[in-house]
Amino acid sequence: APQSYEHIKVSTPRPGVGLVELNRPKALNALFTPLILELNTAMKAFDHDPSIGALVLTGSHKAFAAGADIKEMSTKDFADAYGADFIESWSELPNTIKKPVISAVNGHALGGGCELAMMCDVLYCSEKANFGQPEIKLGVIPGAGGSQRLTRAIGKSRAMELILTGKNFSGREAFDWGLAARVFETPEQCVDGALDTAEQIASYSRIAVKAGKEVVNKSQDLGIREGVEFERRLFHGLFGSEDQKIGMQAFAEKKKAEWKHR
Ligand code: HXC
Repeated sequence: APQSYEHIKVSTPRPGVGLVELNRPKALNALFTPLILELNTAMKAFDHDPSIGALVLTGSHKAFAAGADIKEMSTKDFADAYGADFIESWSELPNTIKKPVISAVNGHALGGGCELAMMCDVLYCSEKANFGQPEIKLGVIPGAGGSQRLTRAIGKSRAMELILTGKNFSGREAFDWGLAARVFETPEQCVDGALDTAEQIASYSRIAVKAGKEVVNKSQDLGIREGVEFERRLFHGLFGSEDQKIGMQAFAEKKKAEWKHR
């Protein structure tokens, strides 16, 4: 059943593509709990929808998300944060969504907004996107994976500088440093580019795409030897899928593959 949301917009603008737009304009998409819960629900619904092959997550041209909601957080004490596992619900996104998620980042992506963008599988942005981990200015540190994901993406020295100074960085810098896969001139081009890529991914075998996401993510957790072994097992496993036969036969016959798992 279609669900209506208050703080996000959900649509399917291209074949096989689910689009989630953060939509809390008055607070520059600050990520308060009701928004995160809607985001989780919508992402899970797309993940379970067999007609969807890839997802795009974006905000507005002004803000992807200006961070966790500072007003919501400001009065929490340690017992509130630790006892109620504050931020726990955020970790559902990268852990439970099996389909690829592309973030299209325009405007501010600060603190938790930057972290949310980095949780996605592929990060696209426009040149004027404004990234940063400004938590240090609020007397805290990143809490949704920022210190780990930013450091892996751009290296220790740069990540340390950014996290300890709270300095922002541009979409152009995010691309130059390897955090973003692509940088676009305008926000429109950025969202279109993300939708194009999602549509292309959605045109392939769902089984192969799922395995592709899984193996790349394993590289973040495993050493090289275990990682390569893990990849090999999954590669071998795909010879048990109809789509391996379909894909390779289509090549030999110079035809377009008609995937079973689509
Ligand atoms: C709550 C926020 C907010 C936030 C903006 N707003 N960011 N509310 N939490 N993170 C609200 C403002 O209070 C204001 O509401 C409205 O959005 C518009 O913002 P302005 O500041 O008036 O806009 P502008 O002057 O254009 O400045 C934009 C900005 C600034 C530079 C992005 O809003 C800003 O610095 N925001 C905070 C960024 C930040 O520190 N993020 C990290 C949060 S900590 P009113 O009602 O006044 O109109 C974090 C920790 C994550 O994310 C840890 C794990 C999750």
